[in-house]
Amino acid sequence: MAGRAALALGAFCVSIASVCAQSSTSSSATDSTTSYRAIFTVPAEADASVPLIPNIYDSNATNAQDACPGYTASNVQRTAYGLTASLSLAGPACNAYGTDIDSLNLTVEYQSEDRLHVEIVPTYVGESNSSWYILPDALVQKPTIDADANITLDSDLNFVWSNDPTFSFQIIRQSTGDVLFDTTGAKLVFENQFIEFSSALPENYNLYGLGEVIHGLRMGNNLTRTFWAADVGDPIDYNIYGDHSFYLDTRYYEKNETTGNLTYAPNATDATGSYVSYSHGVYMRNSHGQEVLMRPSNITWRTLGGSIDLYFYAGPTQDKVTKAYQNSAIGLPAMQQYFTFGYHQCRWGYSNWTVVQQVVDEFKNFGIPTDIDYMNQYRDFDNDQGRFGYVEGAQFLSQLHQNGQHYIPIVDSAIYVPNPENASDAYPIFNRGNDSDAFMLNPDGSLYIGEVWPGYTVFPDWIGAVLNGTGAFDWWSNEMVTWHQNVSFDGIWIDMSEVSSFCVGSCGSNNLTLNPVHPGFGLPGEPGNVIYGYPEGFNVTNATEYASAQAGSSSQASAASATAAPPPTTSTTYLRTTPTPGVRAIEYPPYVINNVQGALDVHAVSPNATHHGGTQEYDYHNLFGTQILNATYHALLNVFPGKRPFIIGRSTFAGSGKWSGHWGGDNTSLWAYMYFSISQALSFSLFGIPMFGVDTCGFNGNTDEELCNRWMQLSAFFPFYRNHNTLSAISQEPYRWASVAEATKTAMNIRYSLLPYIYTTFYLAHSTGSTVMRALSWEFPNDPTLAAVDTQFMFGDSLMITPVLAQGATSVGGVFPGVGSGEIWYDWYSQTAVSAGPGENITIDAPLGHIPVYVRGGSVLPTQEPGYTTRDSRANPWGLIAATNMEGSASGQLYIDDGESVVQNATLWVEFSLTNSALYASARGLYNDTKPLANITILGVPSNVTSVTLNGATLSSGWTYNSTSKVLDIKGLTNSTSAGAWVSDWVLKWM
Ligand code: NOJ
Repeated sequence: MAGRAALALGAFCVSIASVCAQSSTSSSATDSTTSYRAIFTVPAEADASVPLIPNIYDSNATNAQDACPGYTASNVQRTAYGLTASLSLAGPACNAYGTDIDSLNLTVEYQSEDRLHVEIVPTYVGESNSSWYILPDALVQKPTIDADANITLDSDLNFVWSNDPTFSFQIIRQSTGDVLFDTTGAKLVFENQFIEFSSALPENYNLYGLGEVIHGLRMGNNLTRTFWAADVGDPIDYNIYGDHSFYLDTRYYEKNETTGNLTYAPNATDATGSYVSYSHGVYMRNSHGQEVLMRPSNITWRTLGGSIDLYFYAGPTQDKVTKAYQNSAIGLPAMQQYFTFGYHQCRWGYSNWTVVQQVVDEFKNFGIPTDIDYMNQYRDFDNDQGRFGYVEGAQFLSQLHQNGQHYIPIVDSAIYVPNPENASDAYPIFNRGNDSDAFMLNPDGSLYIGEVWPGYTVFPDWIGAVLNGTGAFDWWSNEMVTWHQNVSFDGIWIDMSEVSSFCVGSCGSNNLTLNPVHPGFGLPGEPGNVIYGYPEGFNVTNATEYASAQAGSSSQASAASATAAPPPTTSTTYLRTTPTPGVRAIEYPPYVINNVQGALDVHAVSPNATHHGGTQEYDYHNLFGTQILNATYHALLNVFPGKRPFIIGRSTFAGSGKWSGHWGGDNTSLWAYMYFSISQALSFSLFGIPMFGVDTCGFNGNTDEELCNRWMQLSAFFPFYRNHNTLSAISQEPYRWASVAEATKTAMNIRYSLLPYIYTTFYLAHSTGSTVMRALSWEFPNDPTLAAVDTQFMFGDSLMITPVLAQGATSVGGVFPGVGSGEIWYDWYSQTAVSAGPGENITIDAPLGHIPVYVRGGSVLPTQEPGYTTRDSRANPWGLIAATNMEGSASGQLYIDDGESVVQNATLWVEFSLTNSALYASARGLYNDTKPLANITILGVPSNVTSVTLNGATLSSGWTYNSTSKVLDIKGLTNSTSAGAWVSDWVLKWM
């Protein structure tokens, strides 16, 4: 390991947006320093459930398409906004995976000119039969008909139905005649625990979204997506933390320039042809366990309950689809405080305030989240006074805040239940919650008690609170307000919210006298769980260390196999529940989704946990994560009245973005995960959660210098920029290696100088639903060769990032979209135009420490000189980088506000426009910004410049023109703009 980098890093601009830390008091199963006795380890079997074979892997499973009769439509009635119809079973019930519902209501609504709603629900909704379920609007927003008149006539989408041979429907795009969704030939199956419908899709289709999953950006034509929120460390192609059943479908067509006719072009490989694309979106508003099967010619939805509640978005661009989805269905993303765009340094394993202070000192100025280390035995809202005492913490946090830095502690979803036989084990936070009916119950009304980090725990009942007015939200808010009086945090990081429980069922119900207990698995670093993993290529770059890690890993594996239970001698018999008419088998539903954890009750609160009011977790499992974000958002508004709450949450659902950001969960320190981070982020752009980032340098496993170097640079171009690490892995703060510190300084310098651009881009996402991180195919919709590109991306509409994603590489291949059709790209560092042909994959020199960044011609980017923190950067004079396009023009915007208030007293919006060798700035709004303008850099000025004027006054000095790079660089504007860069409109001209 190289020596530490010097930390008097003038330009090491870090706004420690937050620090993070996790208690190690329970780090050994038998040796606890804070417990009154040796701690009991829950047996690993407590987290094992019945063996199940997922339907998609069971060739003997009933095919509902063969067994079920489908439906027939009748009583079709026109309505003001569409139609209604009755659907009746077209034959004997099949009861394939539940009880068939014999009578359904179909409603079709042209809700706006670009949104069509198709809903199918049981006819008897509202009557006492509770064997089916309708998702309440109070929990998940439901799009409604727009106020505009005449939308039926204006809609580009058309609903067509048929009874031949059974009920089916098509959604047709009128302008092209293209069939976007087509259930013809597939039967509708609607049972109390199983719904299936299927649509044909064209050859080689391009679908994006359907998360949360670790997968490339384009979903591919042979993938099953499972939706069941799971606490699991980022396995590829499985269900993980969140549930977003939304997809974008992009279709490319070759256009005949003479006739204007469009021909579907599924295999186009030409970036220069005359192609156009049309995109639409499909949102299935359903919170149950679901599966979406993508197959070469169709897509099939299967859900374990709820209804068919589909919304089709006409687009026809990604931008229009994403905006319409957010505006109508899930809400616009929460605006974030300015500081949150600073760098965040975190790890599981910062074991006390002193260690955290050392990290802060090393960085001088960084964003610092803390993990569960700070807690008293992993208990929420309760610091370990020995290591993270309130008094010492108050001094630390006060200094941190004076530095312009922030603190974002983790809060877990489960609440410790004190040991009833140990008077010194008091935990009043539990008692206050219990008194408020704030926790989930067993079916018999007793507390549901699972197990997480602190031992046996209860789980907040957000559903009872929203639907039945019980006290979880108020209790949560009060606890946050009270805790903040002792720990002046600046935002909250919500973890384990799937909601995770380390044992099956209410395993703690009869075991509370054992509390606190240790989880039934070793924490990272504990005996048997020592971390020996390193990134790909470590065997080449660090052969000796690799060999010794391999030896350690082998001996750990042999020790584990020596003590492991013998494998079962008989072959496994899988359970498949047979449906019982009228009864729902909620623990083991008859249809088995391919849940990464196996049965639904493994490593999660069981589906039979019961909410106040009597509803069951089976129907709400995927909503815990989003409702804890809702509760935390409102709690933070009470902690900081009027301030934008800053939250990073793990489990999310459609709509979470209006409360929170998200991080990509427990990835691994592997190059593969750095690559996947781009697709993860782009998918969350589609899901309306732009405040996204991943654990930079990798969470699980040890990182190494090369990976961390590349990753620290890549994540600098994600909205949420955080380095986070698991307990006991080698340290990975960027200052651990000189080369990583240097690379980080380079990338952070760019990020911090671009904070005004990033903030403005984020504000546009918040106010309109546009995206921050963008796929190239979204910005260049008529180039079919970009359909699957997820190794390069846009950061806003003006910057393209082409990172090195391969170990050992010193160059990277990249395309420059739009060249040949009017686009120019400028290298960020040399400021010169890139020479590339249309569709050409250029080999770009990218030695370690260099991340290729390009400015798109036609852009004006607002900048500020980077400071140590976001606060310092924000106080520096302004700058502009204007990059001209083929016509010699450019435009851009700058949004300014106070950086923290939900409701702004005044804002400022500045428009920049460059045309005919003149750059205009015009502002509107009353926010009083008095910082001067320091410099303007204009890229792509074709001919020699002999004079520059600002508002007609000649600038006799302070500017240079470089005829080789074609850059006009104007400095020394501070005096002429000393009253403030934007207090009055101006024009800069050159000739
Ligand atoms: C799981 C989270 O995903 C991870 O980020 C955190 O460090 C650990 N829990 C410990 O709190």
